[in-house]
Amino acid sequence: MRDYGRVTSPNPKAQRSVLPAPDERSAPDDKAEIDAARRERARLYPRVTSFRSRRGSLTPAQQDNWERLWPSVGREVSENDRIDAEAWFGRNAPLILEIGCGTGTSTAAMAAEEPDIDVIAVDVYRPGIAQLLGMIGRENLTNIRVIRGDAVIVLGHMIAPASLTGVRVFFPDPWPKARHHKRRLLQPSTIELIAEVLRDNGALHIATDHADYAHSIAEVLGSQSLLVPAETAVPFSTARPVTKFEGRAEREGRPVTEFVLTRVPR
Ligand SMILES: C[S@@+](CC[C@H](N)C(=O)[O-])C[C@H]1O[C@@H](n2cnc3c(N)ncnc32)[C@H](O)[C@@H]1O
Repeated sequence: MRDYGRVTSPNPKAQRSVLPAPDERSAPDDKAEIDAARRERARLYPRVTSFRSRRGSLTPAQQDNWERLWPSVGREVSENDRIDAEAWFGRNAPLILEIGCGTGTSTAAMAAEEPDIDVIAVDVYRPGIAQLLGMIGRENLTNIRVIRGDAVIVLGHMIAPASLTGVRVFFPDPWPKARHHKRRLLQPSTIELIAEVLRDNGALHIATDHADYAHSIAEVLGSQSLLVPAETAVPFSTARPVTKFEGRAEREGRPVTEFVLTRVPR
């Protein structure tokens, strides 16, 4: 597995004395103060995320891609930015969110195959995004936009409810050690957020090559009722290109499990 760097979160025990207990805190009396308090708490008590911070410097070519394309096709994650997809893409088209696009190999290939569908790709990893930007530029892919940051925030704050035709999650980090399972992206809370942003009969497409994660995903999906296995074709292609990542999984004898589910009408 690739090295995803080191956890940089402060140890909550070591930090506990820094924040006063709830009853010692004075009530913030305006929005700016509340926001500042929330940011400070998020800094001191970061929630468990499905990714680790990793440094990633860009090659000169990636830096060039970034400077040329990021201002028009990218944005940073923000809890205060509700996306207007029609304004961002300059048209009204079915919209897919791809969570954890990595270097964007699938993103670019699938967007090229379906020019009538718009795709928002999300990842935290800047060099990977820079590679995707390179493909967007070279292949003139006008139907891709990119958000850098935590997809859980994107789902919870940036995407309007019932607005997506599809959500793709290809090869989410499996976090194989039992003590890290809480970091897995596909948990009941994330599935709930995905169900919230999918429009009626929209679809969720997941692929994983990790048997234990596949088992856990099946359990999570089986314990909710908003998404059900798709019995007919979904409103976008589920044909994925075989990425370098998947090719290695095949060679190492790790079969890929896929899930395709549709949103039950509200
Ligand atoms: C194993 S890689 C798979 C990449 C790509 N989907 C593929 O098939 O090659 C998982 C990716 O998910 C990203 N990721 C993990 N948690 C994330 C999150 N909460 N928000 C955005 N990206 C995330 C990681 O940075 C990484 O690039």
